[in-house]
Amino acid sequence: MIGLRRLDNLLYCVETVLKEDIEGDLIETGVWRGGACIFMRGILAAHGDTRRKVYVADSFEGLPRPDPGKYPADNLDQHHQIEHLAVSQAEVENNFKKYGLLDEQVVFLKGWFKDTLPQAEMEKLAVLRLDGDMYESTMDALSNLYPKLSRGGFCIVDDYALAGCRSAVDEFRASAGISEPMHELDWTGVYWRKQ
Ligand SMILES: C[S@@+](CC[C@H](N)C(=O)[O-])C[C@H]1O[C@@H](n2cnc3c(N)ncnc32)[C@H](O)[C@@H]1O
Repeated sequence: MIGLRRLDNLLYCVETVLKEDIEGDLIETGVWRGGACIFMRGILAAHGDTRRKVYVADSFEGLPRPDPGKYPADNLDQHHQIEHLAVSQAEVENNFKKYGLLDEQVVFLKGWFKDTLPQAEMEKLAVLRLDGDMYESTMDALSNLYPKLSRGGFCIVDDYALAGCRSAVDEFRASAGISEPMHELDWTGVYWRKQ
């Protein structure tokens, strides 16, 4: 789903943290069929990294119904109605298996981000890839996981073209005082490196 530029960016981010020994695991919040996570696990394998984990965070049942009382920016969001975005954990595990990449370095965080991310076990992250489309999903990931991102680590946002996601990113960056420049990848992908 993410296209070549965003795949190239993911390769660049993961290889950079490996080369520069930036501490931490890798996570994608919003994985759909698992493609970007399988790619991250494959990059670790190609570099012989046996230490870092790839966290695969998703409801595995699609997007949540909007909660406009709490998150007005998600008012009228229709993503929860898109059936093909609901892919089961078993199907994603099977996709990892097709590449011979399902092992103990892959950790599934099944459930809504608001429930799973606050108690996620990893201490540090080196790559934080956000692909949850909505304001709520983006904000839940940033507020729970950005503090764990190491200096020198990368924050990648797949959905900056979507109004809800963009509001969450802009508000979070402003409130957390993040001034690192955001780089555009294509019509929707952006990333920045934590200094
Ligand atoms: C656009 S897809 C992700 C595409 C994927 N990153 C790729 O590379 O193909 C969005 C995914 O986010 C998940 N998702 C969105 N918001 C979520 C939330 N609040 N909690 C759990 N999963 C969520 C959906 O289930 C869906 O699998």
